[in-house]
Amino acid sequence: LVAAMEEVEETYIMVKPDGVQRGLVGEIISRFEKKGFKLTGLKLFQCPKDLAEEHYKDHKGKPFFPKLIGYITSGPVVCMAWEGIGVVASARKLIGATNPLNAEPGTLRGDLAVQTGRNIVHGSDSPENGKREIGKI
Ligand code: PPS
Repeated sequence: LVAAMEEVEETYIMVKPDGVQRGLVGEIISRFEKKGFKLTGLKLFQCPKDLAEEHYKDHKGKPFFPKLIGYITSGPVVCMAWEGIGVVASARKLIGATNPLNAEPGTLRGDLAVQTGRNIVHGSDSPENGKREIGKI
């Protein structure tokens, strides 16, 4: 049981356009490095609309979908692959709640953001989505 909980995983972390524009890339990378995770891939990338729609396909049809696609394609993003024990769930904890006003102090969104539509960073919600999202870049 302990061994199962200590599985090495990989997750996809993306600094969103507002995070890049605000100069928060270094700080975001630093949090994951200090925690003890390993950076295994990194790319500055202008996400085309069709790939953005594929990345967020689970949310197609939701009222915020067009705004989300507009936001994510509005400037370069920094795409990263991070590896480590339990990294998928741990990264989501370090990032904090979707709405930065609900995110705990000490989390990236809790400390550095205010609006859901400008929440600076994305992290995969499952190991399967981590693999899928890394594979597209
Ligand atoms: S849901 O409906 O609960 O499944 O959606 P949620 O998991 O909260 O959010 C899914 C992703 O959409 C982003 N999001 C938004 N972006 C811009 N504007 C608004 N209003 C908005 N609402 C949700 C949210 O940040 C999630 O993206 P990621 O990149 O995974 O954080």
